[in-house]
Amino acid sequence: DRVVVLVSGGGSNLAALLEAHRDPGYGARVVGVVSDRVEAGGLEIARAAGIPTAVVSPKDFDDRPSWDRGMAEAVGVFDPGLVVSAGFMRILGAPVLERFERVINTHPALLPAFPGAHGVRDALAYGVTVTGCTVHLVDAGVDTGPIIAQQAVEVLPEDDEATLHERIKVVERALLVDVVGRAARHGIHLDGRRAQLLEPAG
Ligand code: GRF
Repeated sequence: DRVVVLVSGGGSNLAALLEAHRDPGYGARVVGVVSDRVEAGGLEIARAAGIPTAVVSPKDFDDRPSWDRGMAEAVGVFDPGLVVSAGFMRILGAPVLERFERVINTHPALLPAFPGAHGVRDALAYGVTVTGCTVHLVDAGVDTGPIIAQQAVEVLPEDDEATLHERIKVVERALLVDVVGRAARHGIHLDGRRAQLLEPAG
């Protein structure tokens, strides 16, 4: 399956997918990386791996709908069977969601708890003793699409946002690599709110 990865930040999730896609049996091949920010570190990771990149920056567009269309166009160039939002910090609009039926996102909290751009900070501030990460199908809402997989991560008393997020990211990368590989090889079945991977966990 041809995979396009959307990044806004450092791209450690992208790096994990690129590591996995070196195995010919993985089933998913990252064919393009698209960012909303020219300075995203993930673009550098893509370039170093010889993966084509595109930047679709909101400031280059007159309004949000035209940026949405720009995103759909830029992703469409790579003709992906699966779009993976990994640390992409913008809401994907209808032009993207209508054109690509399989868009998944990774979020560093156990949705529906702590959606949005500060899931790690919000979980810490709330005082939870367990948080985690979620891989889900993207719908029109903010982190509200059907859940595919989750993994719990313990919050330690001495944690701050950075240490907790780093611990979550270790688990998150492995979860995302597993889900993307299985989705690419065998697909995702949507049954109401439940998104089932058709290939059982290895
Ligand atoms: C990930 O934890 C993602 O869930 C969150 O931001 C982080 C991005 O990390 N939205 P990276 O850019 O993949 O290193």
